[in-house]
Amino acid sequence: MAEHITLIYAGKEFRLPLVTGSEGEKAIDISLLRRDTGLITLDPGYANTGSCKSAITFVDGEKGILRYRGIPVEQLAERSTFKETAYLLINGELPPQKELTRFSVLLNDHSLVHEDMKTFYQNFPRSSHPMGILSAMVNALRSFYPELQDLDEETTITVTRLLSKVRTMAAMSHKISRGHTVVYPRSDLTYCANFLNMMFDSPVKPYEIDPDVVKALNVFLILHADHEQNCSTAAVRVVGSARVNLYAAISAGIAALWGPLHGGANQAVIETLGEIARSGNLHQMIARAKDRRNPYRLMGFGHRVYKTFDPRARIMKRMAHVLLDKLNLSDPLLDVARELEEIALKDDFFIEHHLYPNVDFYSGIVLKAIGIPINMFTVLFAIGRLPGWIAQWKESMDDPEWKLCRPRQVYSGPHERPYVPIEER
Ligand SMILES: CC(C)(COP(=O)(O)OP(=O)(O)OC[C@H]1O[C@@H](n2cnc3c(N)ncnc32)[C@H](O)[C@@H]1OP(=O)(O)O)[C@@H](O)C(=O)NCCC(=O)NCCS
Repeated sequence: MAEHITLIYAGKEFRLPLVTGSEGEKAIDISLLRRDTGLITLDPGYANTGSCKSAITFVDGEKGILRYRGIPVEQLAERSTFKETAYLLINGELPPQKELTRFSVLLNDHSLVHEDMKTFYQNFPRSSHPMGILSAMVNALRSFYPELQDLDEETTITVTRLLSKVRTMAAMSHKISRGHTVVYPRSDLTYCANFLNMMFDSPVKPYEIDPDVVKALNVFLILHADHEQNCSTAAVRVVGSARVNLYAAISAGIAALWGPLHGGANQAVIETLGEIARSGNLHQMIARAKDRRNPYRLMGFGHRVYKTFDPRARIMKRMAHVLLDKLNLSDPLLDVARELEEIALKDDFFIEHHLYPNVDFYSGIVLKAIGIPINMFTVLFAIGRLPGWIAQWKESMDDPEWKLCRPRQVYSGPHERPYVPIEER
């Protein structure tokens, strides 16, 4: 007989089936709980709630494990490219050479952005945050690229368009915000080299593509490519469950990622490190983060799932050192980061709360060395997370058990009361 747990409520016994994942993790299936018992569960922040079965990414927060489709992220960071990892996440397998070439050709074919979209970019206030612009523009893509009739073709083309155009759009918003000429994508460049060229090439100073920088960008994007049911991915799945088009669902993911508790942390970390470097108030910052009356948090520390270490942070830390060495750069923020990490890791508060550097702690230093402006940091995270969002959306659309996401609540407001006319209030 299948495993189950027994719930005793109001003198009756209810059997709830246990579901076991491929890595042995167990979950109580409560899908019939309300029907059978009249009860619902309450789990603010969903810290104990599995929303789906998924075959894409495996995370073990206690052991610091992260695998995409079974392959350890360390191996992908060392040996794969972002394009290949994106293919793996979306299609489930590493592509044979012929398939990878076909994928590259498709990405090239769809890399241009409709010229009329430039007008929109030009009309955003110069001070607009690029994440707000990206979210709006990705949503606008549906108006420029209407739905195709064939469902399979629609999915393939929409997915390719998104992966390819998001990089063009991100670079475009950077150029336009500076008042510079837009640089178009080139079919002779690889995915990451193309993005860097669109970001930094200029008629007066041609951009020299450095393979070490291209490698660093590939690693950065691979490390961000998926992270199972995180806040922005959950947003993509929830919004997608209403059967909106993929662009709208991804736009919601970008909006969620913008938040400082999620992807926005990479910008917040570099700002914190900069402030410490300027003012030297490292110990005050730590004291502030530990003060329970103060809502301040040390950005780049802590994670909902990782409670021992974040494997991505280790790779990113190494990458920061390697890149700065290769480019012969020194960054005082790296010294501040190292000192902050050293102090925090020995501090009782951080140890007791399981607070370790997360992926965002060192990623800003890598992005800064590549030359990415600070307000574009989270946009780079969004480009990286895109294949994960797409893979998760696709999986949900193909899942016969996936339905409209509509959580319940425990109502805690007033009982029924009459409307009082304004003159009697
Ligand atoms: C990522 C994060 C939202 C996860 O939080 P969570 O799983 O919901 O955990 P909680 O918010 O319940 O925090 C648990 C405890 O640790 C403390 N804590 C968590 N992160 C902290 C941080 N960065 N600085 C100081 N205290 C922190 C909380 O105040 C809480 O303390 P308490 O139990 O004494 O009240 C949280 O660690 C955070 O805000 N980190 C900073 C932002 C960041 O780097 N985000 C990027 C994530 S990749």
